[in-house]
Amino acid sequence: MSAPADPTRGIELRAVAVEIDGRGILDDVSATLTQRTVAVIGANGSGKSTFARLLNGLVRASAGEVRVHGLDVARETRRVRERVGFVFTNPDAQILMPTVAEDVALSLKGRGRGREEAAARVAAVLDRFGLSALADRPAYSLSGGQKQLLALASVLVTEPAVVVADEPTTLLDLGNARLIGDVLTSGIAVQTVIVTHDLELAERCDAALRFADGRLVDAGEPAEVTGRYRAAFA
Ligand SMILES: Nc1ncnc2c1ncn2[C@@H]1O[C@H](COP(=O)(O)OP(=O)(O)OP(=O)(O)O)[C@@H](O)[C@H]1O
Ligand SMILES: [Mg+2]
Repeated sequence: MSAPADPTRGIELRAVAVEIDGRGILDDVSATLTQRTVAVIGANGSGKSTFARLLNGLVRASAGEVRVHGLDVARETRRVRERVGFVFTNPDAQILMPTVAEDVALSLKGRGRGREEAAARVAAVLDRFGLSALADRPAYSLSGGQKQLLALASVLVTEPAVVVADEPTTLLDLGNARLIGDVLTSGIAVQTVIVTHDLELAERCDAALRFADGRLVDAGEPAEVTGRYRAAFA
């Protein structure tokens, strides 16, 4: 029997490296994250998405160890994926079903919910994201921003312990960016990790990490981390 998950341990990386096709993508990343919301910032190509993907085993560490709530991502990938909901930058990567409501409902399949409870939860999450009027629309017909809201709804409906969102507000207008920012920073999960270029959103988190050239170069209070990032361009 493997040990039960221990949320108090947070997200732990020990000397993690990622190499793809012989090229170093991340090097010597160590961190212990116990905060409720964690922003991940840094330049294009600095390694943010790679870091995010380590947290549910989409990317494998070539060296070192990644643990989420005590679970070793490499050895207990299935259990980790049950706990970690991942929201992709490109919503087309994760929308699977023909209609909006069916796509959200698919997430609940096989999770032991009765038909009525599942329907009620789908309706509630669609309402929360302003998608109720689109429930029976073909998912492909949604705008980019509406698709991004749908992708997030489909993840949150399962109430994952950890939410990892890779640039969740990129396609959204001001109102929806604010809505998603509010949702993600409101404590929807035990822990939420938000990769973003929106420094105001980063500053609403409890902690921030900055990557540069595949290394974790800064970590701490979000306002301080974003301040040093801005200063690097001054
Ligand atoms: N599967 C892959 N194969 C080869 N190289 C990769 C792969 N995934 C990422 N990389 C490279 O690793 C580096 C970091 O990529 P990553 O996507 O993590 O950056 P990022 O910080 O998320 O950038 P952005 O802000 O543009 O999304 C880049 O140079 C990228 O080209
Ligand atoms: Mg990225």
